[in-house]
Amino acid sequence: MNQQRPGSIRNILVIGAGTMGRQIAMSAALAGYTATLHDISPAMLEAAEADLSGWAAGRVAKGKLDREDAGKALGRLSFSTDLETCAAGADFAIEAATERLDLKLGIFERLGRAAPAHAVLATNSSTLGSSKVAEVSGRPEQVCNMHFFNPALVMKCVEIVRHAKTSDATVETTLEVARRLGKEPVLIHREIPGFIANRLMVALQREALALAEAGIASIEDIDTTARSALGHPMGPFQLMDMVGLDVIDFMARAVYAETGDPADAPNAAVAGLVAERKLGRKSGAGFYEY
Ligand code: 3HC
Repeated sequence: MNQQRPGSIRNILVIGAGTMGRQIAMSAALAGYTATLHDISPAMLEAAEADLSGWAAGRVAKGKLDREDAGKALGRLSFSTDLETCAAGADFAIEAATERLDLKLGIFERLGRAAPAHAVLATNSSTLGSSKVAEVSGRPEQVCNMHFFNPALVMKCVEIVRHAKTSDATVETTLEVARRLGKEPVLIHREIPGFIANRLMVALQREALALAEAGIASIEDIDTTARSALGHPMGPFQLMDMVGLDVIDFMARAVYAETGDPADAPNAAVAGLVAERKLGRKSGAGFYEY
């Protein structure tokens, strides 16, 4: 293996300019890395660039970010539709593309061919353990999950999940990158559906959905209880609406397909809202109206 020492990581490539990918790339640029955001869609890259410039302007206006630092961070961030070219210059890649195995297999195969031999290849996937894409990269020991949380510019947790062949050096490098991004990484020693955070989140959501379905309390009061009794920033229904009910439903299906445990079965109320295209905040309605 020809892996770099953590401190020498300079260029980070993020693949997928959606909600997560764009904020991960901006976090990298703010931390002083040269960051490239790749997407196959030029329109998606344009939207991400406008969104991040707007976010940075908002932070400056709020006095939370120095104008010069914001300019420098945006200057370190570039956008590209050419995966091979940006992979060639990457020390560390984070794939945050759509949660489809076929798509991720294609990306990891191309990254394996185009990225320098020392580069670590991480996936932000919450539903696919990196072992599923590791072999096609030709460097399975340099592959792991690096799972960020929404909104990635704010949330401190990053779950780093090793698969059976992930090397200690890869884990060290990934932990170091996460810390430099200002995150609080946790290490998960083997793959398990939902990792830690989503297992905890889903357990709370399952109970909240059961309480609402049994007519024990309104969703508003269940959310209020989670906030005011447990100190959660959002109640479980608010959080599901923020994450996206399609994402919640997709995650449940992925976990259920793997475990077959009836306790993991997708929830009918969530699936019903998804069928009505009520996906949460992003569609204007979910459990709540926006
Ligand atoms: N993007 C970037 N920054 C954002 C943001 C966004 N979408 N939403 C809020 N922020 C920032 C605000 O600018 C503000 O920054 P400041 O305090 O430095 O000025 C800060 O976050 C707080 O925002 P607000 O005051 O507007 O609102 P809140 O205090 O309610 O915080 C929140 C918003 C950070 C989203 C908070 O409610 C929270 O932590 N909610 C829980 C989020 C959570 O649990 N995420 C995990 C989801 S699960 C997941 O991602 C896993 C995946 O696999 C599904």
